[in-house]
Amino acid sequence: MSVLNRLTERVIRAVEEAEFLDAPAGAASRAVTRLLPPGRPKDLLSGTWLGHALHPALVVVPIGSWAGALYLDLRGRQTDRTGARRLVGMGAAAALPAIAAGVSDWSDTLGAERRVGFVHALVNNTSLLLFTLSWVARRRGNQAAGVGAAVLGAGFLGLGAWLGGHLSYARGVGVDTTAFEVLPEEWTDVAAVDEVTTAPLVADAGGVAVMLLREGDRIRALQDRCTHRGGPLHEGEIADGCVTCPWHGSRFRLSDGAVVRGPATRPEPAPQVRTVSGRVQVRRFPDEPGSLRQNPVMPPER
Ligand code: FES
Repeated sequence: MSVLNRLTERVIRAVEEAEFLDAPAGAASRAVTRLLPPGRPKDLLSGTWLGHALHPALVVVPIGSWAGALYLDLRGRQTDRTGARRLVGMGAAAALPAIAAGVSDWSDTLGAERRVGFVHALVNNTSLLLFTLSWVARRRGNQAAGVGAAVLGAGFLGLGAWLGGHLSYARGVGVDTTAFEVLPEEWTDVAAVDEVTTAPLVADAGGVAVMLLREGDRIRALQDRCTHRGGPLHEGEIADGCVTCPWHGSRFRLSDGAVVRGPATRPEPAPQVRTVSGRVQVRRFPDEPGSLRQNPVMPPER
């Protein structure tokens, strides 16, 4: 492990274990949750309508704008100053919806993820403040102060991006939490038909928890782990052909797992179901294209 790697590991571990952050982060999270209950505004910010988290798509605009401005600053041409100033301003304006989407995502986290996300937000907001000051300084003709603030802002931006990357790539925030749950390829016995009622039943399908219930004369099956943050769907409310996750209120259609309401952005995997001799059997859909959802995981092509 390199010196840099050891250092970053130590820093991130310190943030993840910083319990003193829990009080302010918890209060902020509760305030956001009160402001953004399950519903359309929350879905809009989550990216439910897009089928993908919105925050990572939005952050490219401020990052790109500010990187472009810094490039123009580095070239040092007098004629580039107006363009650089406009890019700094555009980045600051575009940061606002990106922050709103990020805050909404963050409010549904706990523990280490909440702490890292809290620091990620503080660092990125500091970056926004510095780029805003940079824009003001440039407007007033103070180029040196404008460039200085932008360089400082870029440093915070890089730190914030690292923390955000850690949240996604190391902690899996925003990742479909069923991505690595591998349902059996073969029909697998999970319960007696008589056991399945209109109340959810959790069954084991080759190590994957599956929620079974009866809807009319059909038996429905969904993976039990909510794709959003892993909530137990069998503890949720069943109504109108849907299950509502007890954790953050995502609603999935029982017949196919489609997202009816967010904040989830990914549908709930719905295994195939059949009954044979009074037993319920499930299996994953045979046309599953994702290699990480297959077992054994497909080796890289050579
Ligand atoms: S875990 Fe968040 S809605 Fe299910």
